[in-house]
Amino acid sequence: MRHFAALFVAALTAGSLAAIAQHPVPSQAAQTPPMGWNSWNYFHHNVDDQVVRQAADALVSTGMKDAGYVYVNIDDTWEGDRDANGVLHANSKFPDMKALADYVHSKGLKLGIYSSPGPQTCARFAGSLDHETQDAQLYASWGIDYLKYDLCTFRTAVMTAQAPDDKAAQMRLMVAAYDKMDKALKATGRPMVYSLCQYGWDAVWEWGPQVGANLWRTTGDIQPEWQSIYSILNEQAGLAKYAGPGHWNDPDMLEVGNGRMVGNGPGAHLVPLTLAENRTHFSMWAMLAAPLLAGNDLTHMTPEVLAILTNRDVIAIDQDRLGHEATRAYSDGEVDVWTRHLAGGAMAIAVINAGSDRYSTHPFHLSLAKLGLHGPQKGKDLWEGKEITLTDDMPLEIASHDILLVRIPSPK
Ligand code: GLA
Repeated sequence: MRHFAALFVAALTAGSLAAIAQHPVPSQAAQTPPMGWNSWNYFHHNVDDQVVRQAADALVSTGMKDAGYVYVNIDDTWEGDRDANGVLHANSKFPDMKALADYVHSKGLKLGIYSSPGPQTCARFAGSLDHETQDAQLYASWGIDYLKYDLCTFRTAVMTAQAPDDKAAQMRLMVAAYDKMDKALKATGRPMVYSLCQYGWDAVWEWGPQVGANLWRTTGDIQPEWQSIYSILNEQAGLAKYAGPGHWNDPDMLEVGNGRMVGNGPGAHLVPLTLAENRTHFSMWAMLAAPLLAGNDLTHMTPEVLAILTNRDVIAIDQDRLGHEATRAYSDGEVDVWTRHLAGGAMAIAVINAGSDRYSTHPFHLSLAKLGLHGPQKGKDLWEGKEITLTDDMPLEIASHDILLVRIPSPK
């Protein structure tokens, strides 16, 4: 879809440059990937005022706020009806959104909200089509700090309705819709993080920054299971160059601490992600400089899950000020090696075992040469919390779906 980027640039130079140029100086928001919590992955439709307040309380009481989690984001299903003036009201689950924002702010946290450029959201609640300015002003009046803007019904109601046989025209409509909301948000004068959610369509990483996006989803919806997490991870290879301070690739919100229901009726049961899977998921989202939006029930998490979400060394990789996303250095069978360059010349190395356990009988042999490193490398194993020295071709035992994550302060 590079072709479209060329068209976009051509269109800009041909006329709409003036329109885009009206965007004020890029905001200082999201200089590091946003961190916080979002209601969707665990609560889905069951989010309400109480759930959001409890999530805010839990961010503080668990120490997550101190570890850097700031945004408390309400996802879909908060929306009610528009009144005679077109002003949207929250539904009965959210009796007073301004009071909720005040509460969240009183904890030193920020409040995020969700909408769609279409007539309806993905869960079929009211979207912002033809009410963009009004909605942006409403968010600002409530004290909202973050908007996730999800394509949803804009696809059928506008893109295919207006340009049924012209994919390029459909994409232009989509880009224009995201641009329109950006301008509406900026016009409020209230800084809000702008999160695009259109599943990575039309190589959004190539044009997201031009419509003011601080982050953009690069994939379809994540699921709380290894196959989903691992395939999303692999889709990120090649996207590193598009991320940086203020504008991030978003491989979707965290599923750490979640699981999926298997079976029906009385036999139905939850299959949680294993601790190894939670560790690998969290580590790799940090390596990818991804937004770290916890998606679990913060009021009922195990100490092990909390320890994963608050591992300061791993969070520091995510939040590294250079904002250089990791790249996949090489894969060998079912093992992948990713590296990330960090401020001060440091380097993070992740070795993921996507296959079955690797025991001492057939350990994985890490090639430092393939990472451009020479001789023993002293560093820290960020999950063991211990010093480690990596040597060329060293044998590594890594359990299935687990990870070795090492920070090397002075790679040679
Ligand atoms: C889409 C998004 C999800 C979530 C739901 C809500 O599927 O990709 O992240 O916001 O909509 O309906």
